[in-house]
Order: sequence, then C-alpha cells, then structure tokens
Amino acid sequence: MSKTEIRPAKGKLGVLIPGIGAVSTTFMAGVEAVRRGIAEPIGSLTQMGTIRLGKRTENRVPALREFVPLAGLGDLVFGGWDIFEDNCYEAARKAGVLEKDLLEKVKPLLESIVPMPAVFDNRYVKKLSGPNVKKGANWYDLAEQVMEDIRTFEKTNGVERSVMIWCASTEIFIQPSDVHGSLRAFEEGLKRKDERISPSMVYAYAAIRSGLPFANGAPNLTVDIPALVELARERSVPIAGKDLKTGQTLMKTILAPGFKARLLGVSGWFSTNILGNRDGEVLDDPESFKTKEASKLSVLDEILQPHLYPTLYRDLYHKVRINYYPPRGDNKEGWDNIDIFGWLGYPMQIKVDFLCRDSILAAPIVLDLALFLDLAARAGRRGIQEWLSFYFKSPMTAPGLYPEHDLFIQLMKLKNTLRDMKGEELIHHLGSEYYD
Ligand SMILES: NC(=O)c1ccc[n+]([C@@H]2O[C@H](COP(=O)([O-])OP(=O)(O)OC[C@H]3O[C@@H](n4cnc5c(N)ncnc54)[C@H](O)[C@@H]3O)[C@@H](O)[C@H]2O)c1
Repeated sequence: MSKTEIRPAKGKLGVLIPGIGAVSTTFMAGVEAVRRGIAEPIGSLTQMGTIRLGKRTENRVPALREFVPLAGLGDLVFGGWDIFEDNCYEAARKAGVLEKDLLEKVKPLLESIVPMPAVFDNRYVKKLSGPNVKKGANWYDLAEQVMEDIRTFEKTNGVERSVMIWCASTEIFIQPSDVHGSLRAFEEGLKRKDERISPSMVYAYAAIRSGLPFANGAPNLTVDIPALVELARERSVPIAGKDLKTGQTLMKTILAPGFKARLLGVSGWFSTNILGNRDGEVLDDPESFKTKEASKLSVLDEILQPHLYPTLYRDLYHKVRINYYPPRGDNKEGWDNIDIFGWLGYPMQIKVDFLCRDSILAAPIVLDLALFLDLAARAGRRGIQEWLSFYFKSPMTAPGLYPEHDLFIQLMKLKNTLRDMKGEELIHHLGSEYYD
C-alpha cells in the first residue's frame, strides 16, 4: 500500500484529438448529450463504474469517480485536427453513427469545433487525401506547428491542462527501426524528414514535448517506440496504447479466457467483418489492414499461451478478415466461427454474430482514457501506463514483457492501481478470513 499525492482536478481539461471522424465525433456528441441530461454514459467505467474497498463485509463500494479525483464532464473542452475542413457537426453527420435528432440537440457545441490543419502524408494513409493539411520544411517544423496549436487552443479556451488521443485513420504497417530506437535518433530523423517517421509520431512527439499525456486509439506504432517512451519518461508524461478494444476483439478477450479457464481446446477461430465507414475504406488498403491484422491476431496467442498448453492450443488456426462493404456504414457485422474441443478431444462449434456499432463501443473508451490519463499525470505517473491495457487490443508493455489481454485480469489491474494510488488495500480474492 502506497498512497500517492494526487493533484486536484482544478480547472478545464482540454481533450485534443487528431482525427475528427466517427469515433471522435461520437465521443464529443455523447459527452455533450450527457452534460445536457439527454443521455446516459453507458459503457464508461469512469462514469458508471464502482470499486469495492476493503473486505466484502465492509460494504464500501463507492462510485469510481468519487473514489479518485477525476475531471468532471462539465470541465472538458474539445479540439482536434483533420485533413478535411468539416466542423464536428458536419463530420458527425457524414459519419452517420448518431441519429439526426440527437445531433441537432448537440449541434451548437459540435459546430463550434473546427479541425485545425493536419500533419498528413499520403504514403501512410493511401486511401485518403484532403485539403486541410499543414505545410512545413520537415517533421520537426510540423511538430512545432502542432505545439503552437496546443498552446493557442489552451490559451483561447482557458484550459488548465490537456490530453491527446489519436482517433485518426490507421496508418500503414511499419516495423520499428534505428530511427525509432532513441530520442536522439528520432529527433535527427524529424529534422531530415525521415520516411520511417509517420504523422501520428509527429503528433505524439508534439504532445509529449508539450506535457500532454498521449493515448493511441489506432494500431499504428505511434508512441510504441523506444524514442517516445524515453521522451515520455524524461518529461514525466503518461502514455498508453494501442488500438481501442471494441467489437470482435472485445468478444475474443471475453471468450478466450473462459475457454482457457476450463481447459477447453481451440483448433480454429475464423473471424470476418463487414463494415462500410471511412475506417473500413482505409482498412481496404492492404498495408493499413496489415497493421490492424497484426493487432487483432496477437490477442489469442497471448491469452491461450500454446507453449504452456500445447495439447489444447498448439494447432490453433486463427484467421481475421475485414471486408469494406459500404451499405453497412458504421454498423459493422462481425462473425466468429470457433472450433473448440472438450473431454477426449470431442469437437464442438460456437458461432458468434455480433451486429455491433463500432463508434458506440469506442466513444466511452475515449472518455475513460482522457480522464484516467489526466489522473495519471496528476498522480505523477510517467511513461507506459500498463493499467490501462483494459482499453486496448495491443497493450503497450515494458520491453520483453508479454501483454496481458484477459479483460478480467486487465480490469483487476486497473482497479488495483486505483486502490494503490489511494493507499487502499489491494484485493486478492483469497477470502479465507471469512471461514477461519
Ligand atoms: N471504432 C472502433 O471501434 C475502433 C476500434 C479500434 C480502433 N479504431 C481506430 O480509430 C481510428 C478512428 O476510427 P473512425 O471510425 O473514427 O475512423 P474515421 O475514418 O471516421 O475517422 C478518422 C479521421 O482521421 C482523419 N485523418 C486521417 N489521417 C489524419 C492525420 N494524419 N491527421 C488528422 N486527421 C487524420 C480522417 O480524415 C478521418 O476523418 C481508426 O484508426 C480506427 O482503426 C476504431
């Protein structure tokens, strides 16, 4: 038990978002709807979650937001960048996630948020091009422009502190290389506009340099490179990523731990999706899909641990497909066919057909990440925040450490971190004292 000094959540909190698309506008519209009392923040742990403290017999179960000092929804101010000039109302209308009625009610706020010009490079997102793009001599110059945007946003809105959450399109797959290996190499790369540095890394660099906690909602490398982890530690800034855990992968990390708990074998897991939003269009490009595929595939191996349970999982065939299908818009359909086997090897099948709404599942995660990262910063935490793995498909970890994907272990880790911050006893679920 170690009680941490947590600075109070005083004043306004800026939430700055590269990517004014389906996820970010659904998040902002939703927060405004909740503030106006016309909707409930369903799916958000910070708004609806509780936390048990002490023994079960103590009956101490406060709301999570009363237990730790989080920024209130009324204190959030939004801003962002996009390659298109549409304000948030227009972008939300085009994304087609929320009904017209609800959008009209939150129109004044959404209309007032106009994206700042983006840092963009067509090589990293091949399917899009837009007019609202910054010009600069090199990446370093562009990072300085983003830092200037942050300062102007904070000043204009009277914001006390801010966080940045990447909700822009998935960039193409790249491997970490020497230019990402240290802060020095990275900064030299920024100055010579090294091709291996992507726009999302430029935003992340600008955010951390400005003291803003950064979360990566997409599967691109972005902040998951030694250079930016080093910068985050040096500047005492918390970071987290990557790829919001929604839809099919959320279901996977709920089901797979159950199979493993009961030692049921899995011989095959075929996952396919149809979706028709802009995200789907970007993922139609094989190089962007490769980034997403790597993120989605890693989950099962790390949960099922075939090296420890070869009889059950050694021969698991795992396949993930995403098909761009415009008629569906944001209302994705994800099918899973799971071939499992039980006692004496007898086979069984499970079929999951999840008619989900991607951005509806993602929006509360963006809210929780903004509030928890701000809390982490006020609690003096820096670098990778593994306790926020709960929200990610590919959680960032220390080098050499495998990520924890099991949703329930992740939740326990998150809540125990909060208990630890407040000097409360960690819950170990032994419970033997009730019987002695
Ligand atoms: N919805 C989900 O459940 C979910 C889950 C996990 C990850 N994600 C990821 O979140 C991201 C956003 O998803 P979405 O459905 O809102 O997509 P979207 O296409 O609706 O929005 C993304 C926006 O980013 C903009 N953009 C692209 N490159 C940019 C840049 N360099 N700077 C600023 N803006 C840029 C695009 O113009 C677009 O408006 C995607 O990468 C997606 O893969 C979404």
